[in-house]
Amino acid sequence: MEKFYVTTPIYYVNDVPHIGHAYTTLAADVLARYHRLAGKEVYFLTGTDEHGQKMQRAAELAGITPQELADKNSEHFKELWRYMKIGNDDYVRTTEARHKKGVAELYKRIEAAGDVYLGKYEGIYCVPCETFYTELQLKDGKCPMCGRPVEKVSEPSYFFRMSKYQDKLLEHIESHPRFIMPESRRNEIKSFVEMGLNDLSISRVSFNWGIHVPGTTDHVLYVWVDALTNYISALGFGQEDDEKYNKFWPAGVHLIGKDILRHHAVIWPCLLMSAGLPLPETVFAHGWWTNDGQKMSKSLGNFINPYEVIEKYGLEPFRYFVLREIPFGLDGDFSYQALVGRINSDLANDLGNLLSRTAGMAGKYVGGIIPAPGALEDVDRDLISQVETSVTEVRAAMAECGFSRTLTSIWAMISRANKYVDQTAPFTLAKDPEKKERLGTVLYNLAECLRITAILISPFMPESAEKMWEQIGAPGKPSDPPLADKVKWCGLKADTRMTKGPALFPRIEDK
Ligand code: ME8
Ligand code: MG
Repeated sequence: MEKFYVTTPIYYVNDVPHIGHAYTTLAADVLARYHRLAGKEVYFLTGTDEHGQKMQRAAELAGITPQELADKNSEHFKELWRYMKIGNDDYVRTTEARHKKGVAELYKRIEAAGDVYLGKYEGIYCVPCETFYTELQLKDGKCPMCGRPVEKVSEPSYFFRMSKYQDKLLEHIESHPRFIMPESRRNEIKSFVEMGLNDLSISRVSFNWGIHVPGTTDHVLYVWVDALTNYISALGFGQEDDEKYNKFWPAGVHLIGKDILRHHAVIWPCLLMSAGLPLPETVFAHGWWTNDGQKMSKSLGNFINPYEVIEKYGLEPFRYFVLREIPFGLDGDFSYQALVGRINSDLANDLGNLLSRTAGMAGKYVGGIIPAPGALEDVDRDLISQVETSVTEVRAAMAECGFSRTLTSIWAMISRANKYVDQTAPFTLAKDPEKKERLGTVLYNLAECLRITAILISPFMPESAEKMWEQIGAPGKPSDPPLADKVKWCGLKADTRMTKGPALFPRIEDK
C-alpha cells in the first residue's frame, strides 16, 4: 500500500492557539483525509515545541516551571484539535522521552560525520523566533521576520558545519522541483542558499531549558535542531521500535507557514544529509492570515479565536472558508463578512439547495426511489463531462496542495448541476406521464452528481459529506477508498432510496 506522511509544525506552547495554527492543522487534516480516500496508508503528525529560551522566559514571567507551562499549554492545543475533530494519528511533545532519544541519535550521527565543532558564537538572536541573524539581515535593527527587538549573543557554542552542504542542497533543490513549494518559495530559498550558507550555532550556555548536548552539562541544544527532529523522533527514529520510521519516512509533505521556511528548507535538509537520512519530498509553505487587514499580534490582541468562529458559524463552514477563500501559499485576510458571504452563496445556495431540491423532487415524483438512467441527451452528456473534468482537476490540484482550486472545481460541477435542473425542468417532466423515463434519468444524473460531490468534499467537510451521503442513500461512507473507482460515473445503484433531510447549511441572517 502506498504511504503518505504529513506533518504540521509543532507549535510553541508559550501561546494559546489561534486561527494561524488552526489553518495549518486543518490543511494537514484535509490532506490526510484526501490521501486516505485515495487508498493510501496515511500518518498525520502534529504536536508542540516546548523547549528554548522563549519558553523559559514565559515560564519565569508566569511564575511556574517551564514544564508546568508546557503541560498546561500543550493541552490547549490538544483540546482545540479535539474540538475541531482533527484526525491526527499522533501528537508529539518535545519534552517526551521518545523525542529526546531521537534527538540524541540525530546528534550522534552528525557528530560522527565530523560536522560538529566547538567555537564561539557572536551575533544576533531573536528570542520570539528562536533564530540567529547577522547584523546585515536585520531590518531597522529589528528582527527581519517578526519585527521585534533582537539581542546580542556572545558565548561558547557548538557549531554544525552547514556550509559543507550548500552545494548538495542547491543540487537537491534544482533536481527536485517539488521539494520546496510553491514555486515562489523555492526561488526564494534558492537565492538564499546561493548567497552562501554559514555554519550554524547549535548550542547555548546562557539558559538551561532544553535538551543538553550529549556529553556536556552546560550546552543546551539549539531549540530548532531539537524541534525539527520531531518529524522522525515521533516515528521511532533512534528508538527500539522504529517500524513506523521505516514505513513512513521520508515525509510526503511538511506543511508550514512561510515564517519558518528557512528552518525547514535549509537547516532541516542539511541536518538530514549530514545524518545520512533521506529528505522529505515536499516542504510546503503557506501564506499569512491577517485580521481585517491588520497583522495579528499580541500587542494588538487581535488574534482570531477559532472557538469563537466555530461556535458561531460551525466547524465545517469554517474549514471550507479558510481553504476556499485564499489560494494555499498566498497571504489572506480573515473577515466575517467574507465568511458569511461564502456560507450563504457557496454552501447554502449552491450546494445545500442542489441537495434539497434533488431529494425533494425525488420524494415527490418517484417516491424517493432513484431509477436506472435511460437514454442520454446532450444536456446530460454535458453535465457528465463537467463532472469528469472536475474529478480530473481535483486530483491534479490536490497533488499540489491546491485546496482553493480543488473547491473551485467541485463548485463548477455543483453550479453545472443547478443549471441542469433549470434546463431539464423535472417539475414540468413530472406533469407528463409519457416523460416518466426522462424524469427518472434526470433525477438519476442529479443524484449521481451529488454522490460524487459528497466524495470529493469529504476531506474538507467530512460530516456534511456523510449527511449528504445518508440523504442520497448510498451504502458505506463517502470517505471509503479508493477514490479512483468511487468517482466513476454511474456508481450509484439503480433503485437507491433518497430521503430529504434537514438543510445541510442553513443561511446566516447576519447584520
Ligand atoms: O514556529 N497565518 O511555532 P509557532 C498563518 N515551534 N499561519 C500562521 C499564523 C498566521 N497569522 N500564525 C501562525 C514555531 N501560523 C515552531 C515550529 S516546527 C519543527 C517548529 C502557523 O507556534 C504557521 O504554520 O510560532 C506557522 O508556521 C506556525 O503557525 C508557527 O507556529
Ligand atoms: Mg511563531
